[in-house]
Amino acid sequence: MINDNALIESLEEARTFLGERLEGFQPEVGLILGSGLGPFADCIECAVRVPFAAVPHMGTASAAGHVGQFVAGYVAGRRVLAMQGRLHGYEGFSAQEVAFPVWLMGALGVHTLITTNAAGAINCDYGVGDFCAMRDHINLTGRNPLCGKAPDEMAPRFLPMLDAYDSALRERILSIAADLGITVREGVYLGLLGPSFETPAEIRAFRALGADTVAMSVCEEVIAARHCGMRVAGLSLVSNMACGIEGANPSDDEVHEVAATRLEDFSTLITRLLADEALNDAYPASA
Ligand code: HPA
Repeated sequence: MINDNALIESLEEARTFLGERLEGFQPEVGLILGSGLGPFADCIECAVRVPFAAVPHMGTASAAGHVGQFVAGYVAGRRVLAMQGRLHGYEGFSAQEVAFPVWLMGALGVHTLITTNAAGAINCDYGVGDFCAMRDHINLTGRNPLCGKAPDEMAPRFLPMLDAYDSALRERILSIAADLGITVREGVYLGLLGPSFETPAEIRAFRALGADTVAMSVCEEVIAARHCGMRVAGLSLVSNMACGIEGANPSDDEVHEVAATRLEDFSTLITRLLADEALNDAYPASA
């Protein structure tokens, strides 16, 4: 576990450890595989697997279906460092502990983060099984990994968030999806701490705030990714309609069941995205 005073030293120890385990492999793209989406890690070639628990100062994933390991290797020729599962605030991790693996990816050279999750749809036009590319987020976790002294020593803490989600990457996702005939919406993601699901009144309030989807992850990771200069794409699978919409009463079982049925399209989409030359550089020369 980490505390703010030791964050920079902890990251350096973790970087040295994971760097040695990867034996010179230099990841370009980080991929966080959310609830039910972890099996995509089986598509990674020449895979090196490192449990989170083995990495100094990393928390161990406890959420159902979150294997809790790094998987490094190649997808479509792209050097990928995936997280098969993630750490959540509702498991008892601090915002910095949730963000730690993202900072670690940055320290290992990852320049682009694709973060994925299962989410409930607040927008009534969405359907279960659709995907949604995040255009922006509303962080209602009440937390931020940049609080404290150490993040400010790594990079300025007053992080601009105007373009947190890279529009060029999102355009590529939408265009690839259109090509493949897969429904991908574009919307605003709202992140909560959880672990209870929302009430119908909260969902109505979140709709009024401008949110299209809701779940219990992502915001802290994206803040950390931007803090270390990564480009970010976020993709949700709509695993359920949010609480109260057409009588919906979401459950974790439902989230996993739906994810299993959408894994094939998810894998096709992510593989095509990883192959895309838009991911070649941290930022295209024209940006
Ligand atoms: N609410 C919060 N988190 C979620 C949901 C939801 O409806 N679906 C998947 N994760």
